[in-house]
Amino acid sequence: MQLTIPKDFILGAASSAWQTEGWKGKKEGQDSYLDSWYKNEKFVWHNGYGPAVATNFMEQYQDDVDMMQKIHLTHYRTSINWSRFMIDYEKGVVDEDYAQHIDDVLDALIAAGVEPMLCLEHYELPTFLLEKYDGWSSRKVVDFYVQYAAEVFKRYHHKVKYWFTFNEPIVIQTRCYLDAIRWPHEQNTNKWMQWNYHKVLATAKVVELFKSKGYEGQIGCVLNPEMVYARSSSPEDQKAAEMYDLFFNRIYLDPLVHGSYPEVFWKVCKEEGLEFTYIQEDLDCIAQNTVDFLGINQYYPKRVRAPRYQWNNQAPFHPEKFYETFDLPGRQMNNSRGWEIYPKLLFDMAMYIKERYNNIPWLITENGMGRENEEQFMDASGVVQDDYRIDFIGKHLSWLLRAVEQGANCKGYMLWAFTDCVSPMNAFKNRYGLVRIELNQERTRTLKKSAAWYQQLIDQRILEIEDDEAVK
Ligand code: BG6
Repeated sequence: MQLTIPKDFILGAASSAWQTEGWKGKKEGQDSYLDSWYKNEKFVWHNGYGPAVATNFMEQYQDDVDMMQKIHLTHYRTSINWSRFMIDYEKGVVDEDYAQHIDDVLDALIAAGVEPMLCLEHYELPTFLLEKYDGWSSRKVVDFYVQYAAEVFKRYHHKVKYWFTFNEPIVIQTRCYLDAIRWPHEQNTNKWMQWNYHKVLATAKVVELFKSKGYEGQIGCVLNPEMVYARSSSPEDQKAAEMYDLFFNRIYLDPLVHGSYPEVFWKVCKEEGLEFTYIQEDLDCIAQNTVDFLGINQYYPKRVRAPRYQWNNQAPFHPEKFYETFDLPGRQMNNSRGWEIYPKLLFDMAMYIKERYNNIPWLITENGMGRENEEQFMDASGVVQDDYRIDFIGKHLSWLLRAVEQGANCKGYMLWAFTDCVSPMNAFKNRYGLVRIELNQERTRTLKKSAAWYQQLIDQRILEIEDDEAVK
């Protein structure tokens, strides 16, 4: 079966600053939360690899850009490393060396015919702000972030037309303060709420700033809403899915797209004694400054059922009070990552956005397959024969294209990732790239089979897919 990819539908690839850059040229006091986590708990990072060298993008970005050009890539998303961009937050001093690096990367991309898309934060919260202000607990950090955004827009607005305030703003505090499974392991649900709220507010304030300056281009946010599937149609299982959706999806989607939190959110907060500090003026700002578009990262479905056990009210509140994760028997798995593979996810997500979020323009900003021990698939010439990745992308993209045919306002698909890169904790265990990175000193790069396949897709704009059950 053949599917035609619309002419203006973006086919790109993504990455982030901290997962590629490495620490070359990093100055004292420029650690991010990820750097500090790595320094504090190196032993939890697979084989001890982490952000220190990463792919050495700081020095080798031109090699990557050359490869992008070689495969005719048209769009590339990455982030600016907030923790390296500023030297002094209180005085608003920029690190001119790092700022020049960003200029150089943007120039190289543009010269190669690759449109840059930039995210202001992909988990790169400066450690200084975490230590001195308790990170996003403080309103002051919202102000620092807006000041940082203003400086970034001023310098690069003529080179970049697609901006994102955050990548997956819910993640750090969920792992650190809600689940307490990551450094600094502090369970504090109200802090989780406060961080979420301040990131929503920060997005609204940055949207307001962007518009007030009249910059050309669009500003959005990359979210990772999870497509929630209830185990059954029973009211109990359905309620579990609704609550999951409320706490992990609507908590960002509603204020960012509709301009307000849903009534049920306030009601549950009251019932459960969840508190965070806000003022009416901020809620007005959120109402008036919704995003132009969304980036949506999608990897796996979330399946839930009604909880089987009574909640212990002595335990700190966790949304798990209302759901239990459900593993579908017989599901297809990516065993390297432990994630279910369910390509129809992209169609369902597209319909969810169409129906519940006014069909706002959006694009897949991440989707891809991390695979362990990829060297086993290398042919004699050293090219990784990653047919499983080609299959994964093809099936997911086919469902997305079907959604577009049915009126979804999806503008593109960005693969995670352009090159293999460092993952939080999993380091280089699972490889995601179209480009393989050897972990030698040179960080040698080679195109995988999927890169040639992606190039053909970009050139011909035809997706050939087996006519199997998954796409019927
Ligand atoms: C996304 C993140 O959620 O998932 C990326 O934005 C991340 O930063 C990607 O690398 C894949 O997940 P992981 O944990 O396998 O790296």
